[in-house]
Amino acid sequence: MSKDKFLWGSATAAYQCEGAWDEDGKGPSIWDDYCHSTANLTGITGDVSCDHYHHFKEDIKMMAEGNQNTYRFSISWSRILPKDDHVVNEAGFRFYDELIDECEKYGIVPNVTLVHYDLPDYIGTWTNPKVSDEFAYYASVVFKHFGNRIPLYTTINEPNHNAYCNYCVGNYPPNETNLQHYCECAYNMILCTAKAVKEFRKLNLNSLIGIVQGCGPAVSLKDDPEYLEAVKYCDYFCNDWVLDPAIKGILEDELIEAVKAKGIDLSFVDPNFKDIIKNNTIDFLGQNIYSRMLVKPNTSGITSFTVNNAGNNDGTNNSARETRAIKDWFEFDRDENTQLNKWGREIYPKCGYITLTKRKERYGNIPIYITENGHGCYDIADENGYVEDDERIEFLNNYLQWILKAKEDGVNVQGYYVWSTMDLYSWINGYKKRYGLVRVDYEDGNLKRTPKKSYYWYKEFIKKYQNI
Ligand code: NOJ
Repeated sequence: MSKDKFLWGSATAAYQCEGAWDEDGKGPSIWDDYCHSTANLTGITGDVSCDHYHHFKEDIKMMAEGNQNTYRFSISWSRILPKDDHVVNEAGFRFYDELIDECEKYGIVPNVTLVHYDLPDYIGTWTNPKVSDEFAYYASVVFKHFGNRIPLYTTINEPNHNAYCNYCVGNYPPNETNLQHYCECAYNMILCTAKAVKEFRKLNLNSLIGIVQGCGPAVSLKDDPEYLEAVKYCDYFCNDWVLDPAIKGILEDELIEAVKAKGIDLSFVDPNFKDIIKNNTIDFLGQNIYSRMLVKPNTSGITSFTVNNAGNNDGTNNSARETRAIKDWFEFDRDENTQLNKWGREIYPKCGYITLTKRKERYGNIPIYITENGHGCYDIADENGYVEDDERIEFLNNYLQWILKAKEDGVNVQGYYVWSTMDLYSWINGYKKRYGLVRVDYEDGNLKRTPKKSYYWYKEFIKKYQNI
């Protein structure tokens, strides 16, 4: 299977789609624990979801019939290592072996993320000082087992968004609002990637290894010095700590000083930290593209973070938008000329172009895969389960035009994945916020799949652009 041609596909993540949460020896993850706890006020879980565990053959066949030649999915760490004893669950490997067999049957290139939010429950939290060594062990077990059968590996999905939801907003487990813990989590995530890359290099595989970043670089509506300061601090907070160590093997002293000045106690940092990151950098960047990080100077004088998990914005209601502010650093700005989606996030297709060209400015010609791009909405199906999702088609088409323009203008874009392959569990947004190219009927005993209009649109789009 060749990763050398342009890859066109779609993406999922283990907890969001597999179901089978305790089948065949799988151990619980922190998302199983959270969803089963009283903290989960909705009672909605990923226990079954769209049951990809038992439907993967059908799902992959549909991808192939839709002209897709790559599939991004994640491995559930606690399916492979269910307990805190380093003993491998062979049935866990069997599932992913069969899934990859199926991909190979159709010439679909697997692009595999090692952890997509679902830490094993015995690790508990990203602030656990053991997490990076345990992750390196898990990663080495996976690399040795699959080797070159997986041409593209990524370490962590969206470290920034994961840490942000866990420790700033507190809407993901462990549901805290604590900047000290945000930094400890971030530090451990940096180490996880570096230590996993170290294991990867020992094996001399032909495969490549990367990381998946969840947001684009910060931007502002004005370029006065105060606005540019806000951009710089937002990038410290969301981008630089993820990408500078992973790609350049450094973390700037100015960033570290700014964090200290915020009162964060950095005594947890290993004296060898800089050497560990210096020598273990990645091969490619996975970049998710959804919306802008539009910022301005912090005039509110407060630190606060809000998200909209209600999906109640009518497109104009600014009070339903997401906000983010760090005292003295930055706060989110609002551009009245742009539309917000129902979850209060900006729809801004040009952010694809801005993100890719700015990544090139800072990180040179590194290969980039758009590991996610997609539109969450309330789909309406007809009596046959068919969804005419013109809104999603418009979103994808507009974003893709800018992404392709960035490629034309010299950014080293190597592939693109729609989020998501089929409808799945959207974390605490549950099942109503749908992203799939294929509809899943959750009321149907067999979880019937029906390709949406966007699936057929994407199929034709790929045909047209397959040889770019
Ligand atoms: C990013 C995450 O990686 C994925 O898990 C999530 O469902 C999508 N964005 C949509 O919000």
